[in-house]
Amino acid sequence: MLLKDKHCVITGGAGSIGLATARTFLEEGAKLTLIDLRQADLDKAVDALGNSDRVLTVAADVGDEAATKAYVEAAVARFGQIDVLFSNAGNFGTVAPIEDYPTETFDSVLRVHVRGAFLAAKNVVPHMPDGGSIVITSSVAGTRGDPGVYGYITAKHAQVGLMRVLSKELAARRIRVNSVHPGPISNDFQQNVEDDLSGVIGRDATEFFDQQIPLGRHGTADEVAQAVLYLASDKASFTTGAMLMVDGGMSV
Ligand SMILES: NC(=O)c1ccc[n+]([C@@H]2O[C@H](COP(=O)([O-])OP(=O)(O)OC[C@H]3O[C@@H](n4cnc5c(N)ncnc54)[C@H](O)[C@@H]3O)[C@@H](O)[C@H]2O)c1
Repeated sequence: MLLKDKHCVITGGAGSIGLATARTFLEEGAKLTLIDLRQADLDKAVDALGNSDRVLTVAADVGDEAATKAYVEAAVARFGQIDVLFSNAGNFGTVAPIEDYPTETFDSVLRVHVRGAFLAAKNVVPHMPDGGSIVITSSVAGTRGDPGVYGYITAKHAQVGLMRVLSKELAARRIRVNSVHPGPISNDFQQNVEDDLSGVIGRDATEFFDQQIPLGRHGTADEVAQAVLYLASDKASFTTGAMLMVDGGMSV
């Protein structure tokens, strides 16, 4: 078991990639604290995980500093020091030309991905033992530009900067910090993006993406979870400051 008795905190833990990772981590022996916005969604996630007593849930907004302190305190009170932080919560915002892109949407997207990952690291690191691991879910969108995707693409690039700063600073404690970069994944998050985009580009956006992916298809949340497991575990003991693409070659 790659994560036997390791305490792992997963934000966005009730969502598609968060839940797939939770399931994978549980199978590898981990204890989990799942964070998401709504308790009802977290309850469903716990059901889906078979109501394990190795899972704590805390409803919290990752962009809120007091809520972050509270979820970290609850996590530590239940399972002790935090060996792995998977900062994964995310929202998409919208697609619009620069002059029309709503400033409040830009702020709200950066608040979740960038401020959320920053606050999580700031509050978790004091409770992380030497040799711990932090993984941040960026995206193929953290490596390229696309017209009108102002909030999301800016946020996904900014997470790489945060990851790099953390990786240098925490190396002295052997804490490794990496980002994972999924390409389009078959799930509701991406389907909503593609439904909107199909209207903008006047053709089926799912097909459009598949044509840009050398492997010719969307990925699955489980495929992302396997990459996160690798980075979270000692298998990646000499990997820090890295961007791991899980995108079927889309960024090549
Ligand atoms: N789906 C894809 O194709 C894809 C591709 C690349 C990257 N990503 C990234 O993967 C991560 C997970 O996305 P997903 O595909 O599982 O989508 P998802 O919508 O299923 O999961 C995201 C979760 O984050 C939660 N969340 C949003 N705002 C929050 C907040 N303020 N506080 C706490 N939780 C919050 C949502 O409630 C949701 O459960 C995101 O960071 C997303 O940007 C997704």
